[in-house]
Amino acid sequence: MPLPKAELHLHIEGTLEPELAFELAGRNGVPLPYAGTDALREAYRFTDLQSFLNLYYELMAVLRTEQDFADLADAYLARAAAQGVRHAEIFFDPQAHLARGVGMDTVVEGLWRALGRSEEKHGVSTRLIMCFLRDETAESAMRTLRAAQPYLGRITGVGLDSAETGHPPAKFREVYEAATALGLRRVAHAGEEGPPEYITEALDVLGVERVDHGLRCTEDPELVERLVRDRVPLTLCPLSNVRLRTVDALADHPLPAMLDAGLMCTVNSDDPAYFGGYAGDNFDAVRDTLGLSEERLRDLARNSFHAAFLDDDEERRAR
Ligand code: ADE
Ligand code: ZN
Repeated sequence: MPLPKAELHLHIEGTLEPELAFELAGRNGVPLPYAGTDALREAYRFTDLQSFLNLYYELMAVLRTEQDFADLADAYLARAAAQGVRHAEIFFDPQAHLARGVGMDTVVEGLWRALGRSEEKHGVSTRLIMCFLRDETAESAMRTLRAAQPYLGRITGVGLDSAETGHPPAKFREVYEAATALGLRRVAHAGEEGPPEYITEALDVLGVERVDHGLRCTEDPELVERLVRDRVPLTLCPLSNVRLRTVDALADHPLPAMLDAGLMCTVNSDDPAYFGGYAGDNFDAVRDTLGLSEERLRDLARNSFHAAFLDDDEERRAR
């Protein structure tokens, strides 16, 4: 029986496995410039975040209809459930779809087709977190928030993702203020490739309740002290860090030192179709390569439920 856990850092578009990409490409008549699934997998050799994002955005072209988004999410939920995920807080990138002429209604209704049945079908409760692309303008983010307003019953929070370097959190102050006024929860990617100052800014300017990645906090002892004191959850993604070369090798990952420092770490999969593993695979990898004890793994799982956007009753049921 895999350890029950919550997944808090998961881009639904990053769960698009090559087999499903080709199936959807065929269904929608979208040409893919790869001979087949093996050739596509060959392209999964990333040198940094941007090299991954180029392929991630390219492959989204196959997602066109509500049913495509439903099939994508349902496939993820089945895999997650098999690896012990009981609760999943799922990111999506509406701007990447709106730019291709796919409407907010198609994306949200499609995802909801799978999420709305997930507890019953997979035993996985869910939340939806809408991310803004930080390499787009603040005005575009604000327009996206407005476009999502009819769907706020289905969206729990906002996040910030895409190319981090050169796109500090403060650029999105107003849109986070507007999201807060609408009752939305707040997270942001920070300190994945970007400097520790972006983590501080995400906390101080955007008022985030969790930091996605937060890996580079280790470079700033005062920031670590603050994150420990305020019990700010970090959603780490170890296999992602290796594939995007933010750490040299899994054996060098700072997770054990971060836990020793008292940081509220969680382990997640980010874009599992591209990075070689779902949530349970990430847990297995840190156990096997970093030698984390069963007690430490249980701490990580406990942290994941604690850091989730669940109320106390829901948290007890999910565990
Ligand atoms: N979008 C999808 N995966 C991402 C990641 N790891 N960092 C930033 N943006 C992303
Ligand atoms: Zn991410």
